[in-house]
Amino acid sequence: MDWTKLPQKMLVCEVGPRDGLQSEKQHLTIDQKLELINLAVAAGCKVVEVGSFVSPKAIPQMADTDELCKLLPQVEGVEYRGLIFNLKGLKRAEAAGLKKCQLTVSASKGHCLANMNKTPEEAVASFAECVEYANEHGIALCAAMATSFGCPIDGHVPFEQVVSVAKCLSEMGIKEITLADTTGMANPRQVYQYMVDIQKLIPDADFGLHFHNTRGLGLANVMAGLEAGIVRFDASYAGTGGCPFAPGASGNIATEDLINMCNETGIETGIDIDKYLELGRKVEEYVGGKRSSALLRAGKCSDIVAKNKK
Ligand code: COA
Ligand code: ZN
Repeated sequence: MDWTKLPQKMLVCEVGPRDGLQSEKQHLTIDQKLELINLAVAAGCKVVEVGSFVSPKAIPQMADTDELCKLLPQVEGVEYRGLIFNLKGLKRAEAAGLKKCQLTVSASKGHCLANMNKTPEEAVASFAECVEYANEHGIALCAAMATSFGCPIDGHVPFEQVVSVAKCLSEMGIKEITLADTTGMANPRQVYQYMVDIQKLIPDADFGLHFHNTRGLGLANVMAGLEAGIVRFDASYAGTGGCPFAPGASGNIATEDLINMCNETGIETGIDIDKYLELGRKVEEYVGGKRSSALLRAGKCSDIVAKNKK
């Protein structure tokens, strides 16, 4: 790895309110969800995925996203986005006052069918009406591609398949595209190669990455993404997270761990780690029990040294 070529800054997108909470047994109240979002913003987080506008039968934890969005504090420079799959979701997001939505499709057929009852090709084709509506109503769209690095149902996902879905999105005018490793099947070598190659093949798209730490490779994958020039990464408070429609899914990379790695390696996030640790503790209190964040267990290096010196 050539450390001199690593980006100096990273944009961290907090997906805890959506990916983090969507499969938690303990359903948080709107006040609790709002408090956690406020703490993330107060800590310096600039992008928050606040929830999803999906069928409440499929994901009951997200049924109150409409109401939550109406209560979000409007802070200069902070972007709130909502996850959607269809026009119904987009219209709900608009009515709730959101200005940005993330369409979601899976790169693999098996997960796409399990998650949204459509093949990737059918799903992308169905997005056309969303793009038209969003353009007419001044709503920005981005997209996430689940199972981009491996699928718990189909196994290996060919790179050509990932490129093909991303190309369709880009041709529809959706330029901000996040490749997601929904069940932690990616490895650093694969991430580096995929991201170098896909940026060459679709140069006008702005790619981000979304990792789950299921097999302990989450932060290694972030480093591989950074080396390939990617500067936008999702993470979830306390390491909560997982897709209920992906067998074996587990937590996202923990936002505290990501910020800590950036602080230790000199990559700027603009986020206050101490405030984020407070937020992480609050998340664990509300969901009931410990989650996968390493930093919440171990504390910062500097804290442990200060404690042992006394
Ligand atoms: N908001 C609320 N309800 C919605 C909805 C939305 N955006 N989209 C669909 N629905 C409802 C429909 O009204 C219908 O309800 P009914 O059974 O009471 O009539 C039901 O969902 C099925 O709708 P349909 O249009 O036939 O879609 P579908 O069965 O193909 O479902 C999804 C597709 C993706 C909309 C649905 O399965 C879903 O919301 N899944 C959640 C996926 C998810 O969030 N995964 C985790 C994140 S990756
Ligand atoms: Zn995820």
